[in-house]
Amino acid sequence: MCGIVAYTGMREAYPIIIKGLERLEYRGYDSAGIALQNGDLHVYKKKGKVADLKESLKNVNLEGNVGIGHTRWATHGEPNDRNAHPHYSANQNLVIIHNGIIENYSAIKQDLESKGYAFTSDTDSEVLVTFIEDIQKNTQTPLEEAVRLALQRVVGAYAIVVMSRDTPHMLVAARKGSPLVIGVGKNKDEYFLASDATPIVEYTNEVIYLDDLEIAIIKNNQLVIQHLDSTIKTPYIQTLTLALEAIEKGGFEHFMLKEIYEQPKSVADALRGRISSLEGRLHLGGMLEYINRLVTADRIMILGCGTSWHAGLVGEYLFEELARVPVEVEYASEFRYRNPIIRENDVVICISQSGETADTLAAIELAKQKGAVIFGICNVVGSSIARATHAGAYIHAGPEIGVASTKAFTGQLAILTMTALLVAYRKGTINESDYRRILAELETIPQKIEQCLKLNAETEKIASVFKNAHNFLYLGRGYNFPVALEGALKLKEISYIHAEGYPAAEMKHGPIALIDEEMPVVFIATKDSSYEKIISNIQEVKARKGRVIAIVTEGDTEIKKMADFTIEIPHTIEPLSPMLAVIPLQLLSYHIAIMRGCDVDRPRNLAKSVTVE
Ligand code: G6P
Repeated sequence: MCGIVAYTGMREAYPIIIKGLERLEYRGYDSAGIALQNGDLHVYKKKGKVADLKESLKNVNLEGNVGIGHTRWATHGEPNDRNAHPHYSANQNLVIIHNGIIENYSAIKQDLESKGYAFTSDTDSEVLVTFIEDIQKNTQTPLEEAVRLALQRVVGAYAIVVMSRDTPHMLVAARKGSPLVIGVGKNKDEYFLASDATPIVEYTNEVIYLDDLEIAIIKNNQLVIQHLDSTIKTPYIQTLTLALEAIEKGGFEHFMLKEIYEQPKSVADALRGRISSLEGRLHLGGMLEYINRLVTADRIMILGCGTSWHAGLVGEYLFEELARVPVEVEYASEFRYRNPIIRENDVVICISQSGETADTLAAIELAKQKGAVIFGICNVVGSSIARATHAGAYIHAGPEIGVASTKAFTGQLAILTMTALLVAYRKGTINESDYRRILAELETIPQKIEQCLKLNAETEKIASVFKNAHNFLYLGRGYNFPVALEGALKLKEISYIHAEGYPAAEMKHGPIALIDEEMPVVFIATKDSSYEKIISNIQEVKARKGRVIAIVTEGDTEIKKMADFTIEIPHTIEPLSPMLAVIPLQLLSYHIAIMRGCDVDRPRNLAKSVTVE
């Protein structure tokens, strides 16, 4: 949700910043802008994507060793040139880039207006930078002090970087609730700041994750980190393990397709070193310290948003079936606002690909206040959620850049399966042979996903038949009900076709009214305990002339006779079937979106990482 990049050092800042913005574009692409110190302070900004900004700067002198850049996902004010970042303060002496929301901006704005300040944009960010200017003026303090004083009065979330015309070799950055990473140059004489490590990895692997309420002051290429209460902090430098290839398209036309195809590897990476069916071994190092809390839990609450919430729903089936513990799955955004009841023996599991989703983070804080032990399932190493939880496991899927989540989902399912199995084994709710059988089947999943990917051409053909549909229905039962929700979400997100996911049995309580010869219905109809029931549901759709696309188990003959199209996926046991069934649904939505001319990696109005409420 907005990407920020900044550089100070001896290199040219512009190429680093613009490339960084391209890498961060998944976070927002309503407008983009940069500010450079080159003799004077200059701001260049434009509505649209980073490419539009780049094009508009073709004939501009962009020299300078210090600069900041921003790619925006609009929260306050419509996406246009005026609302694009960076924002000048009123006297144009300061500029700011900001990711987050200043909740009390309108009170601050009124106060500033009463002092005669005028604003050129509708953003909370312009209010913040003008507020800093006003404090600086009134207190005659240096920039870093004015930033500190302003932030003490701000309510909300922010990652900011501020520059001043008066101190051209200086950057002041701060965070609360929105991420900010500082890359430290090899000789500690240049610094790269960004919303995540992707703009940095090419230049250095030494990074500092700024903590909430910390301010980083980089003056003449010397870094000092302070707490908002002005105590000096010792920077903790970590080594990045991110590889440059992981954030490039590697021959694929889109990140989304690359990430779909990475799943045999990303799921294998999630399992690597953690399971061995031969030895009956299941090891989740990051969970060990608190695993007994999960084993003795009276109830598990799983929280997440979007695709991560769908993974949580599969988790509910897994934990209840294998570990016999009641589970509640909730949108983090609902949980945090409803004064939830958390009892002593309850455990919370939070799922988040980015580890930065504001609602999930706030839900964690709330659950913590109520005394819960919290496990995290995240992809981004060192992310806010990973750091805020007591224990957890990374999914190790590598950077997911396509806005529609794909490989994170299967990685999350792999971790949930292992965790449920581990708890079940320790609790004794599963016998040794079933335990080993599930472990052995889990080991085959990467290779079975590989087989699912061979369905690409077939899926593309089906996509060409349905690309102009106005609506889609996705139906599944049991473990595959969340897969139906996820399939529908993928299609909505990237092709803008209205789609709904339902438990197949619920169809007759409403959605069946929508079915006619125009309505494609995707059934996840693998050979499992609800197979016979789902066949009846397919017949109900066929009887009303609906068009059926069925995801079936290899060798199925019965559904083939009634469905218009079938896609055969390899056989697996029921708890693992979502990891396979989702693959053709990801491919189907990808191809439909491409055929409709949609920008699959940057769908309209969406952002990958939602760091605002
Ligand atoms: C956004 C993304 C979704 C994602 C959701 C939760 O809406 O577009 O793809 O599932 O956020 O993100 P998280 O990083 O917490 O999993």
